Amino acid sequence: MHAPASILPLHIDGLSFEAGGALLLDNVSATLRPGLRTVILGPNGAGKSLLLRLCHGLLAPTGGALRWGAFCNGDEERVRRRQAMVFQRPVLLRRSALANITYALALRGVRPRARRVAEARAALERLGLAPLAERPARVLSGGEQQRLALARAWALSPDVLFLDEPTANLDPAASRAVEAAVEAIHAAGTKIVMTTHDLGQARRLADEILFLCGGRLLEQTPAATFFHAPRTPEAAAFLRGELVG
Ligand SMILES: Nc1ncnc2c1ncn2[C@@H]1O[C@H](COP(=O)(O)OP(=O)(O)OP(=O)(O)O)[C@@H](O)[C@H]1O
Ligand SMILES: [Mg+2]
Repeated sequence: MHAPASILPLHIDGLSFEAGGALLLDNVSATLRPGLRTVILGPNGAGKSLLLRLCHGLLAPTGGALRWGAFCNGDEERVRRRQAMVFQRPVLLRRSALANITYALALRGVRPRARRVAEARAALERLGLAPLAERPARVLSGGEQQRLALARAWALSPDVLFLDEPTANLDPAASRAVEAAVEAIHAAGTKIVMTTHDLGQARRLADEILFLCGGRLLEQTPAATFFHAPRTPEAAAFLRGELVG
């Protein structure tokens, strides 16, 4: 049996988002291809989270459009099911760590229950959370909750995973654990699209950089080029740690 074709690439065509009379995203165009780890950088308020939320379908653009791969025309359900998002503060259910994952698998139609439990336990194992399987998710530490959110996203084997500052509240060891999980999810074939304010992390993880400033996409550049020789003065100033935007 053939694996179903990926929903990628994602074509972002002139995407805009206006609210309260302000143009918060201004005519953003880019193509997000499978395989590359894409890191979105930019100063506070640049529109990074907005762009992720629009791509994930949590918000509707006020201008422009998103087009998913060639085989997705009109198949919104498939597009929705083949992507996942992890937020800075994980959104978890008042259930055990294990049940947070089995529930997500049930929503995706994985049957029977024994298969859901086996897949959820495997996902917890991959993130070193097996001993915490029966613990209520809400009592886990911040780093454990973030790893649980990643385990849940990974269990769904999405074509694309959006991550909005997944390590912003974590200590260095927990951040590295999350980075290792992101690497493993990437190696398993999921496209990574993430934001971070940690430039060291961006250097370690990124294949390409999208640089946003003031709601505009100023660069889509291979990571090595971006850090070595950014094309725009705004990006150069941002990398020097100066206030821009
Ligand atoms: N739903 C909304 N309605 C109105 N304004 C919004 C909405 N969402 C975001 N904004 C505004 O849009 C701008 C961009 O916000 P966004 O959260 O995308 O920034 P960001 O690049 O993620 O910044 P940070 O680095 O601080 O996370 C901000 O000025 C924010 O106040
Ligand atoms: Mg943000």
